[in-house]
Amino acid sequence: MSKIAVIGTGYVGLTTSIGLASLGHKVIGYDLDPAKVEMLQAGQLPIHEPGLGEILTAGIESGNLQITSVLSEAVSEADFVFTCVPTPQDEDGSADLSYVISASAAMKEFLKPGAVVVTKSTVPVGSARVVEDAIGRSDVEVASNPEFLREGAAVHDFNHPDRIVVGARSTEVAQKVMDLYSKIDCPKILTSQATAELIKYASNSFLAIKLSYVNDIAALCEAVGADSQEVLHGMGLDTRIGNRFLEPGPGWGGSCFPKDAKALESIASNFGVGLPLITSAIASNEAAHKRVADRVTDALGGSLSGKTIAVLGLTFKANTDDTRESPAIAVIEHLVRGGAKVVAYDPMVTKYELAGLSLADSAVAAASGADALVVLTEWPVFRTVDSAEILQAMTGNVVVDTRRVLDQAKWQAAGAVFPNSSSRAV
Ligand code: UDX
Repeated sequence: MSKIAVIGTGYVGLTTSIGLASLGHKVIGYDLDPAKVEMLQAGQLPIHEPGLGEILTAGIESGNLQITSVLSEAVSEADFVFTCVPTPQDEDGSADLSYVISASAAMKEFLKPGAVVVTKSTVPVGSARVVEDAIGRSDVEVASNPEFLREGAAVHDFNHPDRIVVGARSTEVAQKVMDLYSKIDCPKILTSQATAELIKYASNSFLAIKLSYVNDIAALCEAVGADSQEVLHGMGLDTRIGNRFLEPGPGWGGSCFPKDAKALESIASNFGVGLPLITSAIASNEAAHKRVADRVTDALGGSLSGKTIAVLGLTFKANTDDTRESPAIAVIEHLVRGGAKVVAYDPMVTKYELAGLSLADSAVAAASGADALVVLTEWPVFRTVDSAEILQAMTGNVVVDTRRVLDQAKWQAAGAVFPNSSSRAV
C-alpha cells in the first residue's frame, strides 16, 4: 500500500484516483476548484461515467480516498504524485503543456525526498524532461504512465487494461510505479520516458487511421452496392486486422483522437518526419462528416433550405455526456450551413449552443415535422424507438442511420426510405 496524490479530477484524474484507491492505496485527489472538491467529497460525480460513482463512494467510506483543494495536503506525504491535468490543443496543433508545467512548479516545494512524479496526462515526446526542469529537484524522479481509458468504459479499462506502460530514467523507478498496479493482471511494459510518451500517441493515432479507413471503405461499399457490415466482418476475421474498432459511423471524435492525431503530426514535423497517413486520416474524417450531410441533401432533392432535420445523438459516442469534438456536431454544422433547421435529441445532453440547432426532450418530439431523420450516436435507447410513431410525427420519411442502430427492415416496413450514399464524388 502506497501514499499517492492525484493532481486533477477530470476524466483521467478521477478514474485514476478512484481506481488506485480501489486497489488499496491511500489516495488524495487534488483539484483547485473548491466547488468540485466539495461535490466529490459528497460522493457526487461531475461527469457521467458508468460505475465510477459507486467506487468513488466506496473509496471515501473505506478511508482510502480523500479529495482536497489544498495542494500541500495532497502532496506532502505522497510517495507518488500523478499529474492528470489537461493538455489542450494549441493553435498549431501541438499539445499545450502549460497546465502540466504549472502543476509541476506548484508541487515542487511540497514533494518529499524520493517521491516519484508520474505524468498520466497525454504529453508530447520529451515532456518528462520539461517536468523535471519545472520541478528542478534532484531528489525527485519523474516517470510517464500513459492512460488508455475509453470514456463510457473507464472503470472496465482501469481494471482490465490491454497493457500498462511505465517509462522512467531507470528500470528501478519504473518498476516502483508499476508495482502500484500489482493487483492488475495484464502485459506490463517498463521502458524509457520518451517511449512511454510515444506509445500513447502512436496507439490513438493508429486507431484514428483505422477508423478513417473503415469509414472510407463503408462509403465505397454503399457506392458499389456491397454490404459494408459483411465486408468489415470479413476483414476483421483476419487476426492481423482484428475485429475491434471496425464500426463505421459519421466520423471519429472526442477529447482524445482529434487532439492526439494533430499533436503527433506536430511532434513528427518538429523532428522533420512526415506522417502523411495521419494527415490523410484527419482529412478523411472531415470528409466523413460532410458525406453524411451530402447524403441527406441528395435525398431531399439537392437542397436543405427550408428543411427541418431531426437528429438522434449529439455526444461523440454512446454512454458518455461528452460532446467535445463530436462528429454529430460536425455533421449538424454542415446541415445548418446547407440551410436546414436541426432539432436534436440526446439522452445525456440537455443544452447545446449552436445557431440553427434546437434540442427536444424525446426522439418523437425531435422528429415532429421533420423532413428527414439522422442517427449520429449509437445510443442503445435508439434501437427501441417506435418507428411508426416517429414516421407519423415526421413530414418526410427519409432516414439516415450512420451508426446502424435501427432495424432497417422494420423501419422500411413502416414506410421509411434509407437513401444510398451520395453519388457526389467526395
Ligand atoms: C480514446 C481511446 O480509445 C482511449 O484508449 C484513449 O485513452 C482515449 O481516447 P475515447 O476518446 O473514449 O477513447 O473514444 P473511443 O471509444 O476510442 O472512440 C473514439 C471515436 O471513435 C468516437 O467518436 C467513436 O464513436 C468512434 N468509433 C469507435 C467508431 O466510429 N467506430 C468504432 O468501431 C469505434
